[in-house]
Amino acid sequence: MIGSPKIRVDGPEKVSGTAKYALEYKVDSPLYAVPVKSTINRGSVASINVDEVEELPGVVKVIHAGNAMKLKSFKNAPPYVLVGQKRAPLQDKQVDYIGQDVALVLAETLEDAIWAGRQLKVEYSQEQGDGNIYDLKGKTVKPEQGMLQFEMGAFAEAKNNSSTSVEATYTIPSEHHNPMEISNCIALWDGDRLTVYDATQGVNNYQACTAWCFETDPKNVRVISKYIGGGFGCKGSYWSHTVLAAIAAKMLDRPVKINLSREDMFTSAGHRPRTLQNITITGDQDGKVTGIQHKTNSYTNIEQKYFESCGNLTRVLYDIPNMSVSHEYKPLNLPSPVYMRAPGEAPGSFALESAMDEYAAKIKMDPIEFRLKNYAEVCPFDKKPWSLKKLRECYAKGAEIFGWDQRKQEPKNNMRDGKLIGYGMATSTYPANRAGGAVRLVMDAKGILTVQTAVQDIGTGTWTVMGQIAADAMGISSEMVNMELGDTDFPQGFVSGGSNLTATAGSYIIIAVKKFKEKLLQLSIAQEKSPHYQSSVEDLSIQEGMVESINGNKEKIGEIIKRSGKDTYDFTDKSQVGKGGFGYNKDAPYSSHSFGVIFAEVEIDPDLGVITVPRLTGVFDVGKIMNSKTGKSQLYGGMVWGYGMALLEKTDYNPEGRVVNADLAEYHVPVNADIRELTVDYIDEPDYNFSEHGGRGIGEIGIVGTAAAIANAVYNATGKRVRDLPITMDKLI
Ligand code: MOS
Repeated sequence: MIGSPKIRVDGPEKVSGTAKYALEYKVDSPLYAVPVKSTINRGSVASINVDEVEELPGVVKVIHAGNAMKLKSFKNAPPYVLVGQKRAPLQDKQVDYIGQDVALVLAETLEDAIWAGRQLKVEYSQEQGDGNIYDLKGKTVKPEQGMLQFEMGAFAEAKNNSSTSVEATYTIPSEHHNPMEISNCIALWDGDRLTVYDATQGVNNYQACTAWCFETDPKNVRVISKYIGGGFGCKGSYWSHTVLAAIAAKMLDRPVKINLSREDMFTSAGHRPRTLQNITITGDQDGKVTGIQHKTNSYTNIEQKYFESCGNLTRVLYDIPNMSVSHEYKPLNLPSPVYMRAPGEAPGSFALESAMDEYAAKIKMDPIEFRLKNYAEVCPFDKKPWSLKKLRECYAKGAEIFGWDQRKQEPKNNMRDGKLIGYGMATSTYPANRAGGAVRLVMDAKGILTVQTAVQDIGTGTWTVMGQIAADAMGISSEMVNMELGDTDFPQGFVSGGSNLTATAGSYIIIAVKKFKEKLLQLSIAQEKSPHYQSSVEDLSIQEGMVESINGNKEKIGEIIKRSGKDTYDFTDKSQVGKGGFGYNKDAPYSSHSFGVIFAEVEIDPDLGVITVPRLTGVFDVGKIMNSKTGKSQLYGGMVWGYGMALLEKTDYNPEGRVVNADLAEYHVPVNADIRELTVDYIDEPDYNFSEHGGRGIGEIGIVGTAAAIANAVYNATGKRVRDLPITMDKLI
């Protein structure tokens, strides 16, 4: 089953409209909640015309800092309580940014609530704030945590001794995730027990965060997320909509439905912060790089420290003896930025891979040859062997598929039908992440295996792929597997983020199924009426739903359950990896990363600067592919995101920190008509040093490098180096 292009098990439900998303659950007489957001970036709420608005038709209540139920602060919460903002909503009158929740209107219908929200007049006592994302210098903080400041060798010395160097600054605007499904939920209390139907990348995280602020045992909070219309990072951390719905439902003793507006998504669910990156690469004329300096400036929220780690991949990608990687952040009166698809690596790769192209151009070397000259045979920053690295194979296969040999080394040297043609490439990488979790396995007398674990499918194919993995491990067909996901009543799983989930849950399911099989076989050999009575477990195997012995005795697996006298046989198992956490594991014997290469062809109108991308090719080393259909779709999707990053996406703010293009008419994301030929391939080799099935994550790597490949192709076509995304026609004429 593993690897086969099984169609999505949730496909028919999704296309026929019967898949139930969070807000579609039926609850008795719900109230509709609409949040009202601040219009100043710093100060406090002075007054609200609550009485007036509560008189409006259908309005039940206006909740604000003066009357909201009090919650426990997130300020000292442990890291597993992963919040998007440290300040829970409506707990005090302080305002830190434009778009902060200052009130919540509850009404009998959504229309009444929206209307009443618009009639709410909030007066402020305003103070001088700073929401200017265009000035990232001055009054910055240098975080110590993680690998954000990293020195190896002596960069300054390397620079002094080098014969060649390039230095450039790259800027990437703020960007918003904009999933199709807007953040929403239903909150429903039954005594002290709360049920939340939400759209989250981590049901256990939303459970932990809710339990934390309501000061209750997580057992009292059930979070259900069966279908999610995209997350991309904005539904991983915990945001205010869930808290608001839960507060209102508690205070008014009725189920509450909340659905943010598209505009709210620009203030209340995170974003990728604007970054300014300065890179210096030093080396010799033959293409050996001796030193690299990568400095990142960005911003974060006043209270919630989020750091966009652009320099992380620089430590990993090339064999460079002298490295200096640093990050600085300016706290601003803005909603907190947060993880957005390939956080760190996506913006970091635009800068690094553009700078690498600049160096190759300067010494007139082929960009792939240049990268191969600096190929990292071991992980550069910790010197560990790779668990498996097939980047060289990616370069070769990608160059072949794309026809890289047709590239002209000199820019502005290739015309086709009056258009400038350019070829560009960039390397892609993303860390391989794997955490732990638990799963319950239940087999019935029909031989159907039910698999329960509290993970969620954010649209990536988790329902399908986990079924394939479980079936493969059990030795049954995937039609005999019944997956049950997206509910905190199941054993604790893990968040869908950092491209970890297939490696995480896939591995702990395989480990559990192996033990479960052993237990079932033990049961069988102890049953007097079993054809395998008193056999040895080593002589038995399970294939295609049959237990088979080496001497040819066979029976259906469900027969073991039938004879047991019980309806089902079940088993719960939990496995940990490393410290059970996530991210870089310094105790691991290997360094585990995925790699790839992106090739882009651009076609540019020399008079108008109009850019089209006739071809994008990506070849990836992501370990074993679990499902060649959903897997390819993930990689296509990442590359489409990279296209958007390169040419379209940009959130503009005014100097106070107000988003001025908070809708999909003015925040441009790619559509089908933008995307021409898209080719994805991979080196399908299992990385068993990393996961049980040999797969690594694939959700994010597709975006990494794509913007740089396009920018490098633009340079190749025009001789113009655009270092400021998105690349728009005005920058080319
Ligand atoms: Mo992803 S940005 O790690 O949810």
